[in-house]
Amino acid sequence: MDALTLLTQRHSSPRLTEPGPAPQQLETILAAAVKAPDHAALTPWKFVIAQGEGLLKLGEIFFEAAKAKGESGEALARARLLPTRAPMVITVIAKVQEHPKVPAIEQHLSAGCAAMAMQMAAQAQGLGGIWRTGSYAFDPIVRESLGARGEDQIVGFLYLGTPLSKAPNKKSPNPDDYVAFL
Ligand SMILES: Cc1cc2nc3c(=O)[nH]c(=O)nc-3n(C[C@H](O)[C@H](O)[C@H](O)COP(=O)(O)O)c2cc1C
Repeated sequence: MDALTLLTQRHSSPRLTEPGPAPQQLETILAAAVKAPDHAALTPWKFVIAQGEGLLKLGEIFFEAAKAKGESGEALARARLLPTRAPMVITVIAKVQEHPKVPAIEQHLSAGCAAMAMQMAAQAQGLGGIWRTGSYAFDPIVRESLGARGEDQIVGFLYLGTPLSKAPNKKSPNPDDYVAFL
């Protein structure tokens, strides 16, 4: 798939199954992540990879967060299972450093670029993925458990695997609606 086709045809795959990224594919996905634009070369990222047992550990973290929020019954059980919707989940964290010229927002954006680069590197290799956040990305227990402190931000949980359905036949927004020329 050439670069422009990838950029213009990119899509998410919410329903994923095995196999997840093979070690070589994961290497390429991570190589794409660290090519994210990065003001002052701060490398403000952490990628926490969960697969196999790791997905269950991430599920336990979501479970504890749901319990602390007072969830019960089905909602609590669902929290534990959320990460098992894909063979691999990469938590993308912006690790923010104090810098005179690079505010936190720029470091968050850099981590966001890394998330999209990883999703596209997955799609380019025949895999699929979806970038999710939800309340857990902002939850204090989840943040603490995954090593996000202060102005750090969990910018997303990137679910990766083999798509269960074909690319959706979804109309793209019209770029003209968002463009202005000066
Ligand atoms: C920061 C961010 C957080 C998102 N969180 C969620 C989410 O929690 N759940 C979800 O279904 N989609 C979420 N999305 C949207 C999906 O990643 C995806 O873009 C959307 O389903 C549209 O599909 P498409 O990428 O094929 O156009 C999020 C997107 C971004 C950029």
